[in-house]
Formats: sequence, C-alpha cells, structure tokens
Amino acid sequence: MGDRRGCEEDSDALVLFGVTGDLAHKMIFPALYAMAKRGMLRTPVVGVASSPWTLDDLRKRATDSVRRVTKTVDRRALERLIALLRYVPGDYNDPGTFAALQRALGGARRPAHYLAIPPTLFPTVIRGLGAAGLGHGARVIVEKPFGRDLASARELNRMALSVFPEDSIFRIDHYLGKEAIMNILYFRFANSFLEPFWNRNCVSSVQITLSEEIGVGTRGAFYESAGCLRDVVQNHLFQIVALLAMEPPAFRGYGAVHGEKAKVFQAMRPLAPVDLVRGQYQGYRREPGVAKQSDVETFCALKLHIDSWRWEGVPWYLRSGKRLPESAVEVLVQLKPPPQRLFADSDSTDGRANYVRFRLSPSSAVALAARVKRVGKEFIGDQHELYMQDHQTGSEAPYERLLADAMCGDGALFAREDSIEAAWAVVDPILKKHRRAIPYRPGGWGPKQADALIAAEGGWHNPTPEKALA
Ligand code: BG6
Repeated sequence: MGDRRGCEEDSDALVLFGVTGDLAHKMIFPALYAMAKRGMLRTPVVGVASSPWTLDDLRKRATDSVRRVTKTVDRRALERLIALLRYVPGDYNDPGTFAALQRALGGARRPAHYLAIPPTLFPTVIRGLGAAGLGHGARVIVEKPFGRDLASARELNRMALSVFPEDSIFRIDHYLGKEAIMNILYFRFANSFLEPFWNRNCVSSVQITLSEEIGVGTRGAFYESAGCLRDVVQNHLFQIVALLAMEPPAFRGYGAVHGEKAKVFQAMRPLAPVDLVRGQYQGYRREPGVAKQSDVETFCALKLHIDSWRWEGVPWYLRSGKRLPESAVEVLVQLKPPPQRLFADSDSTDGRANYVRFRLSPSSAVALAARVKRVGKEFIGDQHELYMQDHQTGSEAPYERLLADAMCGDGALFAREDSIEAAWAVVDPILKKHRRAIPYRPGGWGPKQADALIAAEGGWHNPTPEKALA
C-alpha cells in the first residue's frame, strides 16, 4: 500500500470501445488529455465504435470534449493526444471489425482494451477479442455495472477469465479512484483513536447519501436498463460501505485490502423488499429513451445489515437519487449517546449524539462532532464539529488515475471478482422482487416512505449544501 503504483510492463496501445459515446466524451478524453499533459500518454489510442466516422470526426470530438472541461487548454498536449488517435468503425458482432482492429494495432504486444460500452455488449466484445487472438498478452478494462445481477456477473466473469487472466482484468469503479474515498482507508488505519469506538458497542447506525441534482439527461436508454440500484448502489455505495466496515488489512499491500473488503460483502445480509424504498422523479418518463410506463427507480433508500462480529445489530442506511436538492456524497457514523443522561439537555432532540461525518463529494472533509457547554450557569451545550477539510488541488482525477493504473497493470484500485459477485448476491433478491417505484417531486429528498425507513434513528442527515461550506 506504500507505493500504489506497483507497475508491471506498460500497455503499448489503448483500445477504446465505445469511443463515440457519452462516457468517452465526458470522462475518458479529458483523462487522456491530462495524461498527455503530464507526459504519461505515448501509446496509440485506437477508438472503435459502430458509427461510420472518419478519423477527422474523432479528432474533432476529442477536441470538443477537452475544451468543454478545460478552461485553458494546453495546445501542445492536445495536439499530442490528437496525433495518437486512430479510428476503427465496425459492428462488434462482425469478426471483420476485430481483424481491422488487429491491423490498426500494428505490432502492439500488450494492448489495454477499455470497454466503455453498454453492459449488454461486454460479452460480445470480449468474445470477439478472444476469437481474434487479441486477448493474448492484453488487458481489459470493464466499466460498471459488471453484469446486471448475480447470474450475469458470474457468466461475465467466466467469459472474461476464459480470455484474460484475473490480473489482466480491471473492473473499474471510478469511486475507488477518488481521493476522499481513498482517504477513508487511510483515515481509519493510519489513526489509532478510532478503533476503540468503531464497532457495535459505540456506533448506533451508519448512513450514506449519494445525491445528485441532475436527472438522467441524455442517458435515459442506459438508465432504463440499469436503475439506481445497479447504477450506483451495488458498486459506488457498497464500495464505500466496505471501506468503512472492513477489518484492518493484515499486511501492507492491496491484496490484503481486497481480501478484507470481500469479507464485508460476504457478511452483508441479502436484502429483502421491506428493506427498500424505490422512487422515480416526476418527469422521468418524459426523458428521451425512457419508456412511458417505466417502473425504473431513480431513487432508492435501503437498510442493510452486516452480520459480522464488529457490526452485528448496527443498521446501515444507504440512499441515492437523481433530481434531489444537492449534489453531494456524505457518510454519517452515528455514535450512541452516553449511558446516563446527566444534563438538562440530555433528553432534548435538538441534536444527535456524537458522530463522525465524512464529506466525500464535491469537497473532501472529515468532521468529528462533540458536545461543548454553552457559556452560562446552566449545563446545556451544543454539538460542535472538529472539521478537517482537504484543500489540496491538482491531484489526478479518478479516470486519469485509474486508466494510468490499468495501463501499467496495477489492480489496487479495481474491484475483484469475488467482491463483485458477493455484492450482487446482496441486491439480487430485491432486483427480482420489489414494490413499485413511488413518484417524487424533483428538488425534494425523495418519497416520504424513505423517511419512515430510518425514523428509529432520528431521520436522514441531509448533506450540508456546498455553498454553506465555502
Ligand atoms: C456513475 C453513474 O457511475 O456515477 C451516474 O453511472 C452518476 O449515474 C455518477 O451520475 C456519479 O459520479 P460522480 O463522480 O459524479 O459522483
């Protein structure tokens, strides 16, 4: 863990399946540009997609993508990226596409194939790569969600492993490349003061909110095949839970972290329909690509249990949704109140007992809350936060970090096969059986039934608006 970049032989080409798509435009080109700017990208970047584009079209698209997210573009870095681009148009079902890709790759011996395509196409492309002999010596980077349920994830793992060895498969979850999320691991195990209270004896509940102001926008068709549970809960939120709940890794090295995280997923109790509230924002059914009678959830709130020695009896509440009032990710680890209620304000509901709060997005902070007496004769007080904010800027964005890691064979920040399958096993029952999605007003905190789920804990903690933190 000391040196995350335990690099092996670098990939000598990057193949981008789905290069004309949304993900490439929003995330991947800016990441490649940032790598080019740092001098970290020197290999050809071969885009593959079904659109009958020319190389010039692709260059324009990449330029547009970089200009959209970068205020002052470094012209030379952009030119370097543009010069590395190649384009192979073709149908993923056609062996001719893979033959053309092979020609475009020239003498590359260790290409990295990035599947930035709809999950339904993963098996087709992996099969095509295998049949064309393009898996030999290569790496594959697979976007989430990895599968759509336990059975399909197992099948996808089986198929991927028939073409690539496990250490050449990089299951990407960009949350694992975020600084604030990497800091959960560091904060927990680089400090000694947390450990005595980080368990069922002192923690009464944990809640995590991943809220977004935006709706599904142009991603309606993708979202219809995913929904909130598959899109962010089974992966992003569960990865945060695993880092918060895991046991200390037994040795330095990411293998130990992967092992401990997998145990958390294995200890999660499979979810039942009563543990879940599904919501859909009003207007979702009018979004492009969305079915008129769609029951796909754009919001979910759920209650999770981890049946382990450390967490037995502690409920974990997870909530995520689109068209909510604020874009933020926050964790609240709620501690139990002191055993005796000694003061005048001990019974009041004005505040919670002590807590630890992780602000994970957009800013990064950790807050420890404790009660402090107010000035005066009476023994009453207020909750104050010891607030530690990370003001560092200029670190690598998650996609840049993860792409560079995958291209040098460093799997530390990627999800392992056993974790992915165990995580699917937890959500599988509620994918198959659930209540209908309840409509909610855009700009609110989702259906009121979600509040009932957590009423026993004093309700949801809504993330602090970012403006208020400034
Ligand atoms: C993606 C989901 O994985 O994560 C999106 O597909 C979601 O629906 C996004 O908006 C959230 O990521 P971030 O980094 O903006 O919090």
